[in-house]
Amino acid sequence: MFENLKPQPADKILALMQMYRDDPRDQKVDLGVGVYKNAEGVTPVMRAVKAAEQRIIDEQATKAYTGLAGDPAYADAMIGLILDTAVERSKIAAVATPGGTGAVRQAFELIKMANPNARVFVSDPTWPNHVSILKYVGIETVVYRYFDAETRAVNFDGMIEDLKGAKEGDVVLLHGCCHNPTGANLNLTQWKAVVELLNERGLIPMIDIAYQGFGDGLEEDAAGVRLVASSVPECLIAASCSKNFGIYRERTGLLMAISQQGDAEGLNQKTLAYLNRQNYSFPPDHGARVVTTILNDPELRADWQKELEETRLGMLALRQQLADELQRLTGSDRFGFIAEHRGMFSLLGTTPELVEKMRVDAGIYMVGDSRLNIAGLNAQTVPILAKAIVDAGV
Ligand code: LMR
Repeated sequence: MFENLKPQPADKILALMQMYRDDPRDQKVDLGVGVYKNAEGVTPVMRAVKAAEQRIIDEQATKAYTGLAGDPAYADAMIGLILDTAVERSKIAAVATPGGTGAVRQAFELIKMANPNARVFVSDPTWPNHVSILKYVGIETVVYRYFDAETRAVNFDGMIEDLKGAKEGDVVLLHGCCHNPTGANLNLTQWKAVVELLNERGLIPMIDIAYQGFGDGLEEDAAGVRLVASSVPECLIAASCSKNFGIYRERTGLLMAISQQGDAEGLNQKTLAYLNRQNYSFPPDHGARVVTTILNDPELRADWQKELEETRLGMLALRQQLADELQRLTGSDRFGFIAEHRGMFSLLGTTPELVEKMRVDAGIYMVGDSRLNIAGLNAQTVPILAKAIVDAGV
């Protein structure tokens, strides 16, 4: 049997992680996988997470199964964080999933189940695993223009024009904030125009929100999601706690299916639970319990928000430092977009050849599409990167 297996395409982000590990050079800079690192290059366990874990160890009396949807308190806490009061709880079906990727996968399966003819429109570019999972699940993917190669901002006219090619029942995958990989985001006026188009054409939004709190702030980053969720008849939201709680390996995500018809306890909820049962049965609990403990305890929540805000401001400062350094070296403002982008990533918008040159010549590891992880930098490595960018002739 196994002789029939064929090698599958390597995930370019994970392949880069391995290349970085294998590089014997002392001076190398990892700007690849989307993991936050502090100035010392460490991905810390957040203070509130440590405290919540300690509390769980002290107080947890059983590790028996939770429900198929996970602990309902987790869903409630996460819905509050993401949607606040934008949508009535009775309209939201929700299940815990193994990470944001688990939520994305379950969402695609739900789409396939509910409408086998639906196509999913994805931004060009998007997180490569979106496209890979869609292919695996067997859903037709259509790309819409998103990134303007000249301005490195959103090509909004192109996006709208391409979305007009979608037919009723098609799904539009949107990034809630901190677009991965570009760092270029919709403003609220643009979100409103997208909502109008979705409603005009009968399109179903699916929002992937994996970086809430990394862009303009926890509330600001959720504004687009809240607007969409409260303005369309149906939508899907896949959320991740990996980044904003720093609990990557705990695999903590949430999938929501929102219907203005209500039905949180009905078919939508039962279908999400069924999908969990088919794929992995009960979702992981530890990360979800940590998140619930933090969000429901005012002191822990305040401390978590403080640390998250420090993280966000640190990334913004690095963005500004990099843009300033490039301005100094080139005498031009053409890299000013780095300070405008938000979230963990920026897409430099250069060729794979120049990305490779920076890796070979200067030990700079960024994804081949020229996505760089701002959180992989510190004040000392910013000038090294800026010089490498200029030396490579980007
Ligand atoms: C990334 O985009 O680097 C992260 O979302 C990690 C991953 O799983 O690809």
